[in-house]
Amino acid sequence: MTWTPSDWRKLPAKHIPEDYPDAAALEAAEARLKGYPPLVYAGEVRRLKSRLGDVAAGNAFLLQGGDCAESFKEFHPDNIRDTFRVILQMAVVLTFGAAKPVVKVGRIAGQFGKPRSSPVEEIDGVELPSYRGDNINGMGFTPEERMPDPNRLVQAYSQSASTLNLLRTYSQGGYANLANVHRWMQGFVERSPQGARYEKLAEQITKSMEFMAACGVSPATVPQLAQTEFYTSHEALLLGYEEAMARVDSRTGDWYDTSAHMLWIGHRTRQLDHAHVNFLSGVKNPIGMKCGPGLKPDELVSIIEHLNPEDEPGRLTLIARFGAEGVAEGLPPLVRAVQKSGRTVVWSCDPMHGNTLKTGTGYKTRPLDRILSEVKQFIDIVSAEGAYPGGVHVEMTGQNVTECLGGAQAISEEDLSSRYHTHCDPRLNGEQALELAFLLAEKIEAVASAAGTLQRQAS
Ligand code: PEP
Ligand code: CO
Repeated sequence: MTWTPSDWRKLPAKHIPEDYPDAAALEAAEARLKGYPPLVYAGEVRRLKSRLGDVAAGNAFLLQGGDCAESFKEFHPDNIRDTFRVILQMAVVLTFGAAKPVVKVGRIAGQFGKPRSSPVEEIDGVELPSYRGDNINGMGFTPEERMPDPNRLVQAYSQSASTLNLLRTYSQGGYANLANVHRWMQGFVERSPQGARYEKLAEQITKSMEFMAACGVSPATVPQLAQTEFYTSHEALLLGYEEAMARVDSRTGDWYDTSAHMLWIGHRTRQLDHAHVNFLSGVKNPIGMKCGPGLKPDELVSIIEHLNPEDEPGRLTLIARFGAEGVAEGLPPLVRAVQKSGRTVVWSCDPMHGNTLKTGTGYKTRPLDRILSEVKQFIDIVSAEGAYPGGVHVEMTGQNVTECLGGAQAISEEDLSSRYHTHCDPRLNGEQALELAFLLAEKIEAVASAAGTLQRQAS
């Protein structure tokens, strides 16, 4: 039986809206998208898969980050630039910590649809459908806004296309120059109240840049230093849109989802016999899957076999999201089962979605210390099971928002209301994201040097 992009329609599907008032208008919007140009090309997607294959083999590190939900309202070139800039800064820091190339993947240029814990929202006795992401309905608490609107699919496509266009310019046109990124990172170290803590690593990076320049290796002489590879990703939630973006690659005859380089399956939609797993099993993109509470080890192995029957390196990234309090219990059985199965995966850590809490004043937030704690535990646990902790997946922005607690600026509960702009979950701001990168770099270095010591002792 050959797979087709519409097979998912025959299967149970969670978190896909069924209340579009005009089915014909939805069909028409999807048909329009089918005729639109792909956003990414199969060759790029294959290159990302091969880079992720390097991560799976322990030879590179994956950094995936961006908004929880992009929105039409926050669509602005400065926001795209700032997110891109912080990801590059984080990558430079991580490259030094891990002494490995960092594969950079944005949650951007298509990250709109959101699974919600409840299909309805109630305010002051009024009940309306929940907000489901700007590609589906609007955030305003009115019946009109909350009605799913198919025109939003086309608007999301067009926003994704412009975003991607700007990202391609930034990554190839000189903005990503290593010398720039280094300067930004130094600026952060000087400004940060905890800067002294990061000085050693920052100094090492500066020294290496100077050494390279003295050897004649600079962005002026080596064009690769003035460019970077940057990939896009989002949760493949709204399958009507993803189906409309599926194209056959003329070179290989394979299906690719051309809405992004990498797609992932969320924590709420990863049932083996349901629509989302079916759709992603048929396209050749690198796939991520969130792994959190409730996922059974043998269920995980079955999903892996289904999504990656040929055990292709880089095809599958498992993104653990248990929370700082649940990871020590939840993660080891999964890593053990995958190790036992002999399957090739990338292990990444999403330290955001298991660490969300609500303050007394009603803000959804995440304390940075819990985020850091989960990442550290993740590295120890995965390493202890003999696997490679290969990546992180974070919700962050380059904007100076006040959505997550803590960090060098010590954002408190009272501060949250000052710049709380997210359309869904709370994001790390630029400084908090960099702090995470520095701490992660320290941790990876420490684990690697401890392993090196053990190896030396053994030989
Ligand atoms: C997300 O990544 O925004 C998300 C909804 O995560 P999860 O599926 O892990 O809950
Ligand atoms: Co989120």
